[in-house]
Amino acid sequence: MATTTSSIARAVAPPRPPPRTRPRTVASATNARANDEDHVVVIVRRRALMMAFAGCACASCAAPNAQAMVKLIESDAAASMTYDVARDAGLDATFARGMATMMSGFESAVKERKRALFETLFATMRDTGRDELAMCEIGAGTLPNIDFIASMAPRAVDLIAIDPNDAMRAFAEDNLAAALAASDNEVNVRFVHGVAEALPLPDNSMDAVVSTLTLCSVVDQRVALKEIRRVLKPGGALLFLEHVLSETDPKFAELQEKLTPLQIKAADGCHLNRRTLDVIRDEFSAVDGEYYELDGFWVISPQVSGIAVA
Ligand SMILES: C[S@@+](CC[C@H](N)C(=O)[O-])C[C@H]1O[C@@H](n2cnc3c(N)ncnc32)[C@H](O)[C@@H]1O
Repeated sequence: MATTTSSIARAVAPPRPPPRTRPRTVASATNARANDEDHVVVIVRRRALMMAFAGCACASCAAPNAQAMVKLIESDAAASMTYDVARDAGLDATFARGMATMMSGFESAVKERKRALFETLFATMRDTGRDELAMCEIGAGTLPNIDFIASMAPRAVDLIAIDPNDAMRAFAEDNLAAALAASDNEVNVRFVHGVAEALPLPDNSMDAVVSTLTLCSVVDQRVALKEIRRVLKPGGALLFLEHVLSETDPKFAELQEKLTPLQIKAADGCHLNRRTLDVIRDEFSAVDGEYYELDGFWVISPQVSGIAVA
């Protein structure tokens, strides 16, 4: 196991830049929840965005595009109280900037793995005749997966991007705009403040849920996974890619255990000592997942990825 400091290791405690502020905009659509005071909801329609870039915003040019397919609901109030914990705006801004600026090395290292996972996920969806997908990404962060979703998904996608850190959104919007400009698919994205343990989504409403580097951070993995199962349609799938406790090196696992309290403080609740694949296998009926180790990413080198079917 490599133990050199890497870009990802530095990302856990980046220097503090001034917070990048953005108003808590609430936009509504006919089938999205209106008057939403607790959630950040933004509807982005690809063509409208393209027209804005092109300088044309006329109604005839901005033809209807991918629509919000799923109506958001109130999250379970008790679960939200428990798991959507109070946050520090300064720390949120710092962490969001760190994730936006220091993860390129990591994303390059997992790019082909992610591509293969999304290929498998979308091939399964196509095989079952689905070309309009309702998807949710938990802990969506800066949307590092949006390129794969926008370019590889079947014809239309309604993506609900959920995260408790509202400072991620400005960076996510930048990534979204770039991905949409390069894709012909109809992609509708709503940014929603929330947590994986209390999803604002109806039962059996999602074709797929995505989690990358998030199940390390949720407060309670089992509660989150049960929520994911609740919202997945029968045959729906969870795509995951997560860092975990080493399975091959007990001494390194011990170090990960020791560093976890520090990591939780420095990186927004991130645990280095979780056995995420075991928990996913407990909670899902069919799991195609594997453990592997990346080179050069120190305490987050041990990883698991795969697809779990509800
Ligand atoms: C390490 S970042 C990963 C972000 C993104 N998924 C990625 O791959 O870059 C962890 C994300 O999980 C979010 N998060 C923390 N607690 C959460 C919870 N209980 N439910 C959902 N997301 C959570 C954080 O705000 C952060 O955006």
